[in-house]
Amino acid sequence: MKITTDLAAPSLKKPKPVDESALGFGKIFSDHMFLMEYRQEHGWQNARIAPYGPIAMDPAAMVLHYGQEVFEGLKAYRGTDGAICLFRPRMNFERMNRSAARLCMPEIPPEDQLEAVSALLRADRDWIPSSRGTSLYIRPVMIATEPGLGVRPSAEYLYFIIAGPVGNYYSRGFEPVRILVEQRYVRAARGGVGEAKTAGNYAASLLAARNAKEKGFDQVLWLDAGQQGCIEEVGTMNIFFRFGDEIVTPPLTGSILPGVTRDSVLRIVRDRGSKVSERPVTIDEVRASARDGSLREAFGTGTAAVISPVGMLSHNGEEISINEGRVGEMSRTLLDEIMGIQYGEIPDRYRWVQKVS
Ligand code: COI
Repeated sequence: MKITTDLAAPSLKKPKPVDESALGFGKIFSDHMFLMEYRQEHGWQNARIAPYGPIAMDPAAMVLHYGQEVFEGLKAYRGTDGAICLFRPRMNFERMNRSAARLCMPEIPPEDQLEAVSALLRADRDWIPSSRGTSLYIRPVMIATEPGLGVRPSAEYLYFIIAGPVGNYYSRGFEPVRILVEQRYVRAARGGVGEAKTAGNYAASLLAARNAKEKGFDQVLWLDAGQQGCIEEVGTMNIFFRFGDEIVTPPLTGSILPGVTRDSVLRIVRDRGSKVSERPVTIDEVRASARDGSLREAFGTGTAAVISPVGMLSHNGEEISINEGRVGEMSRTLLDEIMGIQYGEIPDRYRWVQKVS
């Protein structure tokens, strides 16, 4: 893929954040972005790096009316040797294509997606923060741009990538989160778009998340759309439980996002010889195991959040305390191992890190 580069004039470059401990998540954006357009007759064209800035769009662009959009989230880390490291980027690119196929959108060869991300990282390498726990969050997005109000797949698309330095997703850092089990609303039904990374899933989650925040919770835990008894995922994360010596996460049955960190955790804990199950988990099982003492810990996994210990679930007005609200041993060792690999501090025995030069 041929990528042209138009770098921002030095006078237009933004000041970089000085205090890396106060980055937060998704508030600051780097100086450049990647863009390319798709037309049915020509395929993807005009790949370019341009200064970060507004995108002009026809008000009838289909994305604005029917939500034909997919996106991804991955991170670039500054390795201990100074190298720019991506973590399993191919999984993100393949998921992007599966999401696109689900929404009748064109795919992009994973090699081209990697080239696009690499070109942006070369332009904005100075934006990658270096403190442990920080990274450059990369957000590839595809939107339907053809003007028209008929409900059908667009014939034109824009793919763009923006990036920005981030720290912890949760403002309290690696502290156990408090989660409300959502009983009124559902996130996704089987056969819907729950396993696609598409904006509508997040829009649909906002009301429940806001209600939960108002009650003092950090996130919601979604139950299945059928009987609302089985656990699916947390707001922006997949979820794991440790019952006795068994590590359990709900299976990917179509309504759950297939997370990269989820997959990495499964691999690591399987290799440690732990008993790992991808099987349905009901909220009743969680409650009963909390009562009989076999629920040892719970944690969420995600690119933005990495590993996030869960300290408490609230269901039907009942508080289910997990590990007395403290960070569990497995959450801590998994965070250390995954971050150790991401920052190049420990050997990359799975070959998960891809360096960008
Ligand atoms: C990620 O973990 O990268 C996500 O996409 C979650 C995000 C919506 C904040």
